Amino acid sequence: MSTAIYGLENLDPKPHLKIWMNGQLVPVDQARISVFDHGLLYGDGVFEGIRSYNGRIFECEAHVHRLFNSAKALKLKIPFTEEQVAAGMYEAMAANGHMGPDKDCYLRVVVTRGVGLLGISPLRAWKPTLYIIADTILMYPREMYEKGMPVVVSSFTRNHSNAMPPSIKSLNYLNNILAKLDAIEHGFPEAIMLNHMGYVSEATGDNIFLVRDGQLQTPPTSAGILEGITRSTVIRLAREMGIETVEKEIVRTNLYYADEIFLTGTGAEIIGVREVDRRPVGDGGVGPLTRRLMDAYQKHVRSAAVSAQLPSGVRV
Ligand SMILES: Cc1ncc(COP(=O)(O)O)c(C=O)c1O
Repeated sequence: MSTAIYGLENLDPKPHLKIWMNGQLVPVDQARISVFDHGLLYGDGVFEGIRSYNGRIFECEAHVHRLFNSAKALKLKIPFTEEQVAAGMYEAMAANGHMGPDKDCYLRVVVTRGVGLLGISPLRAWKPTLYIIADTILMYPREMYEKGMPVVVSSFTRNHSNAMPPSIKSLNYLNNILAKLDAIEHGFPEAIMLNHMGYVSEATGDNIFLVRDGQLQTPPTSAGILEGITRSTVIRLAREMGIETVEKEIVRTNLYYADEIFLTGTGAEIIGVREVDRRPVGDGGVGPLTRRLMDAYQKHVRSAAVSAQLPSGVRV
């Protein structure tokens, strides 16, 4: 596989990391999952990817709530309350030195079904495991944020909502991984996935927006997408800027005719798309509205109002 897109990184976890695991902070080399855990055996579990800015978790309650909703869909009983999970994230941040006003971090909350018998039935697995990693992440190289990224429409169809609902943020990301792998092997950092009807759904780990004649367009949740928290934030920020977003079915050629395209996600934040299937988007760079939204997003996540928000029950 080409490493040219990402460069060669040290892939070992930082040895000093502390992981919040089932209510305790443990050194990373002692944070272990059983080989009988159904999260590993069957991808049976859920997760969240979350960012903190200036020592405050962005949209903490929305992320925790989505985690519990994903778990609800799988009838997976998380052995903590939403408040305890939020508090656990802050504990993980504090233990790893991410609490300062000038500190940013990326959190991963994972809930596995837990240890069980070798059969698939989740009823024969018990005691889910919940762990939290507080670390950092760079989804794409910095210059891609400046120049925009080239993407390709994947030949892999996005999971059908009645087969593996994309709205569940589960530990089964194989559909996304197949598309990502295929894109990277063809020299593209990211893929856009179409659903079984041929409508645009989302990228492998991000939602998608188009700009056409000054209007913002994004696929509806019925297109088979994760209901992105960055997506909702962008829709809200755009409205405050006087720009309405239309949720509508988007076909492949709409991507070719768009004036601007960008992707949104917690990890990637907002990143412009400069090329789709080797066709330039607009002028082939990051469009003006995309840039305005990128700026507005950075201001918003670091604003005093956001920094003042602490989930109920959390003391720092
Ligand atoms: C498949 C998929 N779509 C969209 C998103 C964007 O969601 P959010 O903005 O909540 O991070 C993610 C990332 O979590 C994702 O994995």
